[in-house]
Amino acid sequence: MVKTLYLKKNVLKVLDQRLLPSKIIYIACGNYKDVFYCIKDMAVRGAPAIGVAAGYGMYLAAIERKFGDVSDLKKYLRIAGKYLVSARPTAVNLFWAVNRISKTVHEFKGSRVDELRERIRKEADKIYYEDISINKKMGENGAKLLEKNSTLLTHCNAGALATAGWGTALGVIRTAHKQGKIKLVYVDETRPYLQGARLTSWELLQEKIPCVLITDNMAGYFLSTGRIDGVIVGADRIAANGDTANKIGTYSLAVLCKYNKIPFYVAAPSSTFDLTISAGKKIKIEYRNSDEVIFINGYRISPVGVKALHPAFDVTPHNLITAIITEKGVIKNPSKERIRKILGV
Ligand code: MRU
Repeated sequence: MVKTLYLKKNVLKVLDQRLLPSKIIYIACGNYKDVFYCIKDMAVRGAPAIGVAAGYGMYLAAIERKFGDVSDLKKYLRIAGKYLVSARPTAVNLFWAVNRISKTVHEFKGSRVDELRERIRKEADKIYYEDISINKKMGENGAKLLEKNSTLLTHCNAGALATAGWGTALGVIRTAHKQGKIKLVYVDETRPYLQGARLTSWELLQEKIPCVLITDNMAGYFLSTGRIDGVIVGADRIAANGDTANKIGTYSLAVLCKYNKIPFYVAAPSSTFDLTISAGKKIKIEYRNSDEVIFINGYRISPVGVKALHPAFDVTPHNLITAIITEKGVIKNPSKERIRKILGV
């Protein structure tokens, strides 16, 4: 797989996912505001990838200009952190990564600017590499839930492109495929941004995992035919009770699964849990520009003057979720108590 992002010579190279699958072009980010725009404008997207990018955004802030002393640098980082977290509101990994770097900064008691920069760089690298190993662990945990010859459906892109590598929901599919368990993956196109059509099908084709693309409104039909054994998706924020925010359309899939008695799985790292939020109704849903609904690839598909709405996420209540797969274990029938037990908090 091509890399989602990487740091080279103090420049963060971000794969421009808006151009995929036609073009593989990296945006060179030399400062934290470049990273902010990559996140806001969705050149990089997917909760864990946004977090990893923000970690490096903090590092770029630390090196992008001269600082008189450590407290000067710390002040600048507070401003950069506030700015970065304002890029997108729903994916908690963004806040989590900035908080993690801020903690490193806060705990630094030295007096050398270069030393603090080095600490931040190390922490950002750690977030990057940990993400890949966490995804692989999640893959192993999730694959155990699947039978041989499984046909699954996935929504949006929760693959290598949405993370530092391997993926969450697609990571489980990747691992299960290596174990010979995957017969076919139905890929929801995922209107309006088409992460499924553009990104997930591209990843699956590269891995030679059998897949078939469907439009979102076909999912109900296929789920009613008995051809699909399970639905697996990623997550952007999971409340303390297990209610899960994910790409718009996820909730409808979960309802369809309940009605058709099909397991509905969420795969997410522990960094996607927001235990400060008791239930899903408190999760802030990002509303994006309605032009993203009215235009496809710059082509207007609706009449001039029509109004459109674009909530980018919805919330699936925990009682519709069969299990949440994490790197720490599988949380069956998620509840506040079971989540705390598996996460060890
Ligand atoms: O708007 P996006 O493309 O950032 O939304 C991405 C999703 O909703 C993913 O399913 C989620 O972030 C999990 S990614 C591993």
